[in-house]
Amino acid sequence: MELQAVERSYARWAPIYDRTFGAVTDVGRRRATALLSELGGSVLEVGVGTGLALRHYGPQVRVTGVDYSAEMLEKARAKVAADGLANVAALHRMDARELAFPDESFDHVAAMHVISVVPDPEKVMSEMARVVRPGGSVVIVNHFARKRGALAMAERVAAPLADLLGWHSDFDRSRVLGEANLTLAEERTLPPLGMMTLMRLVRNG
Ligand SMILES: C[S@@+](CC[C@H](N)C(=O)[O-])C[C@H]1O[C@@H](n2cnc3c(N)ncnc32)[C@H](O)[C@@H]1O
Repeated sequence: MELQAVERSYARWAPIYDRTFGAVTDVGRRRATALLSELGGSVLEVGVGTGLALRHYGPQVRVTGVDYSAEMLEKARAKVAADGLANVAALHRMDARELAFPDESFDHVAAMHVISVVPDPEKVMSEMARVVRPGGSVVIVNHFARKRGALAMAERVAAPLADLLGWHSDFDRSRVLGEANLTLAEERTLPPLGMMTLMRLVRNG
C-alpha cells in the first residue's frame, strides 16, 4: 500500500476506528503494553493511531507516539488531553520508514497492528532496530497469514482489498524476521482464536 493510500484510508477510519477495528483488537494492545510496562523506560510507539494503547502504559514508561495520519493523531491527542496522560512525552506526525530520531534513542519500540499496513515493512523494521538501544525490545502485534484452512482462503480473497481495508490480510510473518539486528525472543498467539500474534524481538548488542 502506498503512503497516499494509507493516508486516505485512515482519514476514513479515524472517526469510527475506536468502535470497530479498535474495539476488537484490544487484547493485543493490553498484552503489549503490560509487557512494555514491566520492562519500563522510554518507548516509541510506531503507528500510534488514535492512541488506544496510551492509557494502558504504566507510570514507569515514557511514551513517544508517531503516526502518518493527521486524523488518527488528532484522536490520540484528544485522548492525551482528556485523560491527562502525563507519561506521553510527545506525539509526532512522521513516516515510520524515516524515523526522525537518532540511533538508539529508545529503550523499547512497539508497533501494534501496523506492520502489515505500512508501505515498506522491511524498511520500518530496520528503522525500529536502528532507534532502539542494544538489548532493548521491539514488540510487534499483528495478524499474520495462515497457511491452511477457511481463514487462510478468506485472507487470500481479501488481499486485493488492501487499499480499501487499510491493511494486508495475507501478510507473512517472515517479513518481520529478516532484520539482522533483531533476534526473536518470544512469540505467542492471542485470543480470540489466535487471530493476532505478539512477538518480542531483541536488538543485538
Ligand atoms: C490499524 S492502525 C493501528 C493503530 C494502533 N497502533 C492500534 O493498535 O490501534 C495502523 C496505523 O498505522 C499508521 N501508518 C501506516 N503507515 C504508516 C507510516 N508509513 N508511518 C507512520 N504511520 C503509519 C496508520 O496511519 C494507522 O494509524
